[in-house]
Amino acid sequence: MIALTLAEVAEAVGGELVGGPGGADASGAVVRGAVLVDSRALADGDLFVALPGERVDGADFLPAAADAGAVGALATRPHPALPCVVVPDPVEALGRLAGAVHRRLVDGGLVTVGITGSSGKTSTKDLLGQVLAAAGETVSPQGSFNNDIGLPLTVLTADGTTRFLVLEMGSRGPGHIARLCRIARPQIGVVLNVGSAHLGEFGSAEVIATSKGELVAALPAEGTAVLNADDPRVIGMAPRTAATVVTTGVEAAADVRAVDVELDDAARARFTLRAGGEQQPVALQVVGAHQVANALSAAAAALAAGMTPAQVAGALSAAGPRSRWRMEVSRRADGVTVVNDAYNANPESMRAALAALVRLPGRRRIAVLGAMGELGPGADAAHAKLGRDAVRAGVDLVVSVGPDAIGVHTGALAERDGVGCGPADSHGAEQEETVHVPDRAAAARLLAEVVGPGDVVLVKASRSYGLEALAADLLAAGGAAEVTA
Ligand SMILES: Nc1ncnc2c1ncn2[C@@H]1O[C@H](COP(=O)(O)OP(=O)(O)OP(=O)(O)O)[C@@H](O)[C@H]1O
Ligand SMILES: [Mg+2]
Repeated sequence: MIALTLAEVAEAVGGELVGGPGGADASGAVVRGAVLVDSRALADGDLFVALPGERVDGADFLPAAADAGAVGALATRPHPALPCVVVPDPVEALGRLAGAVHRRLVDGGLVTVGITGSSGKTSTKDLLGQVLAAAGETVSPQGSFNNDIGLPLTVLTADGTTRFLVLEMGSRGPGHIARLCRIARPQIGVVLNVGSAHLGEFGSAEVIATSKGELVAALPAEGTAVLNADDPRVIGMAPRTAATVVTTGVEAAADVRAVDVELDDAARARFTLRAGGEQQPVALQVVGAHQVANALSAAAAALAAGMTPAQVAGALSAAGPRSRWRMEVSRRADGVTVVNDAYNANPESMRAALAALVRLPGRRRIAVLGAMGELGPGADAAHAKLGRDAVRAGVDLVVSVGPDAIGVHTGALAERDGVGCGPADSHGAEQEETVHVPDRAAAARLLAEVVGPGDVVLVKASRSYGLEALAADLLAAGGAAEVTA
């Protein structure tokens, strides 16, 4: 964080500074380090934010924070161990602090990009972070820091040397993104897509669209809204912004466009980037055709930030995967390829992953699929459709894992019956299987039996089902593995 005194912190958050040991006046003490919510990560000069958690109360760790060298804390109650800025709600205070710091940094020339959408926020942030880094100092953390805690913590990692700040903005209901934009109002806003992630909480796709549109509604008139013209609900947000609209598209004619899209043998896309009257070749390192849309969105944002099409194309082509468990392709020593896409899942990202799986070269394509969470009343239909889609896409073996994924199994079975697999089928009946297993352990046992050299195994489910552990076990089972993408 930029250096701030505890008095400035207290003023920014509207809290009361209560002195530390002996009640000494700490208003001039300076926070020179980081702002952290984990007391174990604290070092000299940091500010500790004592969050009230469900299981543990951060305020219990105030003495530990003092021992670790923290200058002070944001907390709901004071403690004699160290100076505390006392606030009723540390999460809100964290947002206020980030807001105050962000306004200062923007005055100093910082350019902030906000990214939202149902799928691909982290993937796009990771691409854009690497592209902008070619033009200047960029803050774009690994992982998915997209909520009321992660976003302000990200903002607070920026300082006077930062030229570009890339923020992922998640949403689980109306008003969430508007709130994040009040903390750090972006000059450039990117909306990727409107899908069915968290449909259960939102209620309908229209509400999801309205909520994601809060990002472009928050942009200033001199800003830029990057909208995906291939998604009608996204391009439909154009009237909600005062900013200049820049469109992206693979299918639709758009300001920033990908033409001549091709996938190579490793399911990585190559295309020609058309923007600003120029054409530039791009060869992505990240896996899956869905990354083309993400790359275009990143390209449009980087162009809006002042980069040239040639710079953008070059940097996109050099950008690798940054955050774990998203289409992470590894090759086992025994020749089995494991695709760990177990970070999360919804119908759109499942489709994208299956499309990539069947493009990867191999003997058999095996999809190990857990359930998709938070889909609401349409969940059963969505799981059945997933099973059907997996078979239709050409997956040889569908393994559904856990009781919530039983619909995948029935959908896949119904599709296999419908297309009729038997002796007459050219693929051979033994390759066309659908198996349901009750849990991760059973899946691991089954895979140990059936997976062999040359097979490509995709592992994917919603995060709460923890299938990334299954992918890790699967990798470990085959000896030393090498991450290839
Ligand atoms: N444009 C896209 N369309 C469909 N699926 C995508 C797209 N981009 C990424 N995915 C897939 O969606 C999953 C999640 O990707 P990513 O982590 O980038 O999304 P996110 O929007 O950040 O998710 P979260 O809401 O959990 O933060 C991955 O499995 C990835 O392969
Ligand atoms: Mg994310």
